[in-house]
Amino acid sequence: MGEAPSQTGNRAKHVAIIMDGNGRWAKRKHLPRAMGHKRGVEAVRALIRSVEPMGLDCLTLYAFSSENWKRPEDEVDDLMDLMRKFIKSDLPEFIANDVRLKIIGDWQGLAPDIVKSLEDALEKTSGGSRTLAVALNYGSQQEIARAAAKAAAIGEVTEASITAHLDTNDLPPLDLLIRTSGEVRLSNFLLWQCAYAEMLFVDTLWPDFTPEHLQTALDDFAIRERRFGGR
Ligand code: IPE
Ligand code: IPE
Ligand code: MG
Repeated sequence: MGEAPSQTGNRAKHVAIIMDGNGRWAKRKHLPRAMGHKRGVEAVRALIRSVEPMGLDCLTLYAFSSENWKRPEDEVDDLMDLMRKFIKSDLPEFIANDVRLKIIGDWQGLAPDIVKSLEDALEKTSGGSRTLAVALNYGSQQEIARAAAKAAAIGEVTEASITAHLDTNDLPPLDLLIRTSGEVRLSNFLLWQCAYAEMLFVDTLWPDFTPEHLQTALDDFAIRERRFGGR
């Protein structure tokens, strides 16, 4: 009989999620893709409320990649509209939940009205004690290239200096990366930050992902043995 895994009691402080599977969720229900994205936003909302009770310092969500511009224009428009609505409707919720909003990626490249409302939301939530980092127009290779260029400009191309110039420089080290929908790839997300992160790939499609699924992931993380190259 195998031994029961020992409870190492790791507590995840920073969890990142690749929220994938909205399209397949809609397809299975014979609904338009846009409905999948809409329900995906609802899953995000429920999760934000669980950041504090689950003891997370930071939750980072992959919302729109630098490669997602390749999608048909109407889908990109739908996603941008959802983003617009979400920032407006959920800002009071962020403030009430003591959540500091942070955006990673090349978000200044989004439509000017979105940039403006993000700036407003960043300012209004700046006092929050827990962070919700949203990756918008984000590509990890581009982020690393930007950070390396800044490190080079000060003549210090070191691991520490590149880390310090990443968009995530004020976030805690990444403990756990989750991807939903059964795909097992990183799709240009947090490549540098994943160096020693634990990873969990689940089959659940994003709109079906609940705070209970996150709790299960945290329980799984708690019993993993993290070695960081030691023994
Ligand atoms: C994730 O769901 C949402 C974004 C990438 C914006 P998808 O739209 O990728 O859903 P699938 O992968 O096609 O099911
Ligand atoms: C990754 O999902 C991007 C987001 C979840 C925002 P994709 O659906 O875009 O990834 P690929 O194309 O399957 O790799
Ligand atoms: Mg996908």
